[in-house]
Amino acid sequence: MTSTTRTPDRPEIAEHPRMSVVGVGYLGATHAACMAALGFEVLGVDIDEVKIAALRSGRVPFFEPGLQELLVEQLASGRLRFSTDFDEAARFGDVHFICVGTPQAADSPAADLTYVDAAVDALASRIDRRALIVGKSTVPTGTAERLTERIREIAPAGAELELAWNPEFLREGFAVDDTLHPDRLVFGVASEWAERQLAAAYAPLFADETPLVVTDLATAELVKVAANSFLATKISYINAMAEVCEATGADVDHLASALSFDSRIGGRFLKPGLGFGGGCLPKDIRAFTHRAEELGVGQAVAFLHEVDHINTRRRLRTVDLVREAAGGELRGAAVAALGAAFKPDSDDVRDAPALDVARMLWLEGADVRVYDPHANENAHRAYPDLVYADSMADAVEGADVVALLTEWAEFAEADPEELGDRVANRRIVDGRHALDGDAYRAAGWEVRSLGRPAVSEEPRVEASVPSRRR
Ligand code: UDX
Repeated sequence: MTSTTRTPDRPEIAEHPRMSVVGVGYLGATHAACMAALGFEVLGVDIDEVKIAALRSGRVPFFEPGLQELLVEQLASGRLRFSTDFDEAARFGDVHFICVGTPQAADSPAADLTYVDAAVDALASRIDRRALIVGKSTVPTGTAERLTERIREIAPAGAELELAWNPEFLREGFAVDDTLHPDRLVFGVASEWAERQLAAAYAPLFADETPLVVTDLATAELVKVAANSFLATKISYINAMAEVCEATGADVDHLASALSFDSRIGGRFLKPGLGFGGGCLPKDIRAFTHRAEELGVGQAVAFLHEVDHINTRRRLRTVDLVREAAGGELRGAAVAALGAAFKPDSDDVRDAPALDVARMLWLEGADVRVYDPHANENAHRAYPDLVYADSMADAVEGADVVALLTEWAEFAEADPEELGDRVANRRIVDGRHALDGDAYRAAGWEVRSLGRPAVSEEPRVEASVPSRRR
């Protein structure tokens, strides 16, 4: 095996590359811990000293099932360390993963690339040997090309330092499993050397026969936003059907069930309700639309504006349903808002439909009590004016209307009788189509759901009976 001229101690093609992970938020912390679990030496780096101190002491500063245990285990193995020192990261890593956030810009739908640019600058200006920087953050197409030029300009290593793009597809709540068992890997590379480095970095996953797509940098950037746009479109599609159902008296849950058996359509991401939120889908479709317009192909993705609008309308319509359930007037109505996170098994309240609905109800004068099993703290930080309950029981006590806004198992599995004993009126708006409506109705509840008639039954799926077919 050949060695680089500058660092004879590190092989040019690292069989077991040492890794740095820049940005140890939800993506980076998970990636760092998982890479260590796969047997690599990993250094997590961030400018945020508080975050680094927490991770060093074995504490994950956000809620992600399974990550806490993995972090403690990998710190103990000695393979995983954390630091704020970029000099150390530049010396240590053969492969450097960029995992910083790309939030929506404050004054436009575009992605804010400040953190990506800063992370690449911080590393590239220090690296003086053959190494690979790998972008994992979600970025507008064209970013990698621009950053490649930037690296050439500022890196002491010059052309020895390369850039690749390797989008992540992990879902909050399943981040560890999605990282260790991804549906596919995508390598956006500009050279065979970069491809071999990435192949070495992910070698343990190939034992599972994980599909790999090797492509150019621009396509790799695009895969991520294309995937998220597709998922958002699928959700808004079924929610658009819910709007049609509302106008016709049809039942969107029955419709979704019937559609899901067409294997070309499938049932995943076809769950109607309050719609999508979080740190990815909403800002990714907006940034994608913005970038396509910049590139002169805005028309090709103009439908994403509609996807966004359908999604927002579901929030307003949920407020309408709660108002109707409260007798037409929200002022003074006691409303229990169950859920604040954008989805269950997460404490993330970024662009959370649940919290948005709670805030709108409060703005209309309802006496809202919010309860989320894990997101109360983040929600309080975002909306300190709302009242937060410490338990589901506290939230529903004396409520005129209960609104289920995030489908945590605790809510979906609640006993309608026990819940009914606490509320003032047995009226519930199921914003996530998560409840057994038949059981609630049997317990005397009035149940309302988006896209479903006021009196509805849960969809029945039976094996077809030959005599009925005749
Ligand atoms: C998403 C992508 O799934 C993931 O691949 C990417 O890496 C990051 O963005 P995440 O934001 O964690 O992941 O959440 P996801 O599970 O996709 O759900 C997004 C939103 O859609 C949630 O608010 C969820 O409640 C909503 N949703 C999802 C629906 O309303 N209906 C569905 O059928 C599915």
